Amino acid sequence: MTPERTPELFDSWAENYDDFVDTVSDRFPFAGYHQVLDRMVELSDPKEGMRVLDMGIGTGGLAKRFVDFNCEIWGLDYSSKMLEKAAQKVPSAHLVKADIRSEWPSELRIGFDLIVSAYSIHHLDLNAKLDTIKRMHDELLNKEGRIVIGDVSFRSFAERAAARRELAHEWDDYEYYWAADETKTMLWGEGLYVVYEQISFCGGVYLIVSV
Ligand SMILES: C[S@@+](CC[C@H](N)C(=O)[O-])C[C@H]1O[C@@H](n2cnc3c(N)ncnc32)[C@H](O)[C@@H]1O
Repeated sequence: MTPERTPELFDSWAENYDDFVDTVSDRFPFAGYHQVLDRMVELSDPKEGMRVLDMGIGTGGLAKRFVDFNCEIWGLDYSSKMLEKAAQKVPSAHLVKADIRSEWPSELRIGFDLIVSAYSIHHLDLNAKLDTIKRMHDELLNKEGRIVIGDVSFRSFAERAAARRELAHEWDDYEYYWAADETKTMLWGEGLYVVYEQISFCGGVYLIVSV
């Protein structure tokens, strides 16, 4: 089992994060990582001038893709070192140091057309995930906006349980991998409509909009 997640842990990972992900993107839990990010951008349908917030921006790999569409980029992360890397990769980005789980700084309350998050929200347990998505929708998203999340995820609770048995030694109990059936049902109950696509055996993308 890996150590508990803290900003300091991510600080220590920042320098080598991009190389690390490239090396392991053919295996659990990062299998399909680049394809997940590609699909996130497609489902985001970015347009010039869109204001985009990347929650858990990390080194900025996903955010950088939206620069090509001339979007206005914002990023939140609680790791200073990750934010330094993001600033190098996306110099135009507005970067905010904050914890996804806590109250967000007032500078973020400006209305976003799109909120994205890649491989970050699995650090939150199910209740915190749902609370965060609901708050992103209610507090930060514009009326016609969309939320696109890509992460370690399985089609169903049953598939996740089977993977956990199969991957016993690689499974990390500090991480809360998604099960799409459980998430969809709970978000529908909150008035949010969810479309899910499985991209690799352990990676998937959620598109979330208001009904
Ligand atoms: C696995 S990395 C993913 C980075 C990037 N989004 C990507 O796709 O490669 C997780 C990121 O989420 C950030 N993170 C994790 N938990 C967080 C929290 N509670 N609040 C803010 N950032 C968090 C970490 O600092 C790290 O940058």
